[in-house]
Amino acid sequence: MVWSLQSVPALSDAQFALWSKLLEERAGIYLGEQKKVFLQTQVAMRMRELGYSDYGEYYQRVVDGVAGMVEWSLLVDRLVVNETSFFRHRPSIDFVGRHVAAHLQRVKAGDGSSAAFDLWSIGCSSGEEPYSLAMVMSDAYQNAGLEPRYAITGTDISRAALGVARAGIYGARKVQMVDDNYRQRYFLQVADNQYQISSLLRDRICFTHGNVLNINEMPVIQVDAIFCQNLLVYFRRWLREQILNAFVARLKPGGILVIGLGEVVDWTHPDMKRVAADGVQAYIHT
Ligand SMILES: C[S@@+](CC[C@H](N)C(=O)[O-])C[C@H]1O[C@@H](n2cnc3c(N)ncnc32)[C@H](O)[C@@H]1O
Repeated sequence: MVWSLQSVPALSDAQFALWSKLLEERAGIYLGEQKKVFLQTQVAMRMRELGYSDYGEYYQRVVDGVAGMVEWSLLVDRLVVNETSFFRHRPSIDFVGRHVAAHLQRVKAGDGSSAAFDLWSIGCSSGEEPYSLAMVMSDAYQNAGLEPRYAITGTDISRAALGVARAGIYGARKVQMVDDNYRQRYFLQVADNQYQISSLLRDRICFTHGNVLNINEMPVIQVDAIFCQNLLVYFRRWLREQILNAFVARLKPGGILVIGLGEVVDWTHPDMKRVAADGVQAYIHT
């Protein structure tokens, strides 16, 4: 189908306020006035697919009952920013690798802790982030001479992104950014310009749909690490802090929280201590 963007009806200020309020209430994402054209284009494209020409009518469809929830889940895929890459913030990924290696050294020294390590990647998008973490975590087990006993949960609000993550198949352009060392060990060519993550890593990751705004309704499972980057930045400050506080309850004592550098400033929590690591914003549960 060919889209003519010129025929997209203009979104009035009142309609923009309505749609952006819905996105903020349901996904936490705050769109400033400068994102109006983006919102208009994405909503209008979806309206055209369904044959709507009136924003108000389509809005009613999105907020109406169970069918509305299904439509909302399709629309949200268009409105969230899914941009990601392998080893996007290398210092943070390496920090996790070093943390797991140190944990395994303590296990080997017989301090009584378990060799298992659970990590939760929140806002994992199409999987590049949790797969990068899996690569450094696998190395930590291998270097320690231990069987891999790590598990990663990847959570995202976008079902489309999760579909890509589960398949673990990426185009050559994305894969060529990965170091040779990892590319040779963890990617298998499955078609022209298509590479799939090795099952050694895929088998250790479970991708689940989840809205971080509903974190308090998710089962309380405590993990050794939470990794959440380039998500909180779309939220207002009070919401970022509320969500970080909820993360603390999901961490085991000694567990780490790694967020994007500068994504949150001035956040403190009585149970969390900032870790001194260059170029990394991480906290440890005391
Ligand atoms: C910009 S991507 C970041 C991906 C990855 N963490 C990285 O740093 O490369 C943001 C991700 O957060 C997801 N997201 C947005 N709102 C969310 C919410 N309320 N709950 C869970 N995930 C959300 C989006 O679908 C998107 O995949």
